[in-house]
Amino acid sequence: MKVALIGCGTIAKTHLDVLKHLGHSVTALCDRNEDKAKKLCREFGLNCDVYTDYKVMLDKAKPDSVHVCTPHYEHAEMSVAALERGINVLCEKPVCINDEQYAQLKEAAEKSSAKIGICFQNRYLETNEKLKSLCETEGAKGIFAAVPWARDVNYYTETDWRGRLKTEGGGVMMNQAIHTLDLTLWMLGEPVAVTGSVSNNHLKGVIDEEDTAEIYIEFKSGAKATFYATTANAFNTPVIISLSTEKGLYTAVGNKVYDGTGCPVAVNEKTDIIAKDYWGNGHLHLIRDFYDHVARGEDFPVDVVEAYKAVKTALELYASFGTRREIDFSKLQ
Ligand SMILES: NC(=O)c1ccc[n+]([C@@H]2O[C@H](COP(=O)([O-])OP(=O)(O)OC[C@H]3O[C@@H](n4cnc5c(N)ncnc54)[C@H](O)[C@@H]3O)[C@@H](O)[C@H]2O)c1
Repeated sequence: MKVALIGCGTIAKTHLDVLKHLGHSVTALCDRNEDKAKKLCREFGLNCDVYTDYKVMLDKAKPDSVHVCTPHYEHAEMSVAALERGINVLCEKPVCINDEQYAQLKEAAEKSSAKIGICFQNRYLETNEKLKSLCETEGAKGIFAAVPWARDVNYYTETDWRGRLKTEGGGVMMNQAIHTLDLTLWMLGEPVAVTGSVSNNHLKGVIDEEDTAEIYIEFKSGAKATFYATTANAFNTPVIISLSTEKGLYTAVGNKVYDGTGCPVAVNEKTDIIAKDYWGNGHLHLIRDFYDHVARGEDFPVDVVEAYKAVKTALELYASFGTRREIDFSKLQ
């Protein structure tokens, strides 16, 4: 498998770690900043070509697959270009940032012989797999979730795209909390309505989007989700997902799920961990599963339609201004 990667920034290293671990050969790297691509090439001891124009790379390097690790607003355009060339795509989240990009990408995916997968890697953690299976076996009544994180001014100003609605597509709900929003939808099924509010609590004048959001979602099944996310916290606190079923209450925090009596019922301990944390382990399992699907010629379950559900829900939150917005995912098909 000849693999290429676009966007040699922070998350690219996790992808390269995983690709090395899985034994795929990375033959081309692209970054608009050539030095960043060359540096990554050296750091990972890769014998690969470096490009600054991703379309030139796709045409010349002719990879079997490409990893898209660029800012949010470029995901759709780059993925479409690869799919049109019959190149498989593993794209970072969020899959895209608006309905127009979604329509273009969905059409390209339908027409292409190549496969596309989106990095919602937290679906692969045992804790989240446990909560999902409890929803199926015990019947879910609802979820409370919290993403209480800290992101300072430097985090936003060190790149030219974070903190900008035009390039990021939204603040904490579109970027950091999109994983937990995806998990909530994955566990509880089709939403029918959403409302909530967003605010900029600590970064006024620095970012032009929300650093804090609260969302309320009603589901077709009758289940409900309430959810709070912020990057204005004083420190990074582990994500909390509390699930109420017909039979009990379960809370996932850090690397464990606890039942109502405080006993752990699931632990994240998948063994072939290649990166130190929460992200890396999930990425390994997702990327491995993606390439297994590609090898079998099967569509990947977290595809464009599946991954857009969380984006669409975040966009409806932004449009709600506290009013109830009905959601109908069947119109996305
Ligand atoms: N799945 C996760 O948990 C996770 C974690 C972190 C980041 N991400 C996602 O990964 C993506 C990248 O985030 P990051 O933090 O690595 O960003 P970053 O700014 O550190 O890196 C992005 C890189 O893309 C390059 N780039 C931008 N436009 C380009 C273009 N047109 N052609 C070539 N190169 C281009 C930039 O020069 C930069 O090096 C984002 O979508 C982010 O949401 C996902």
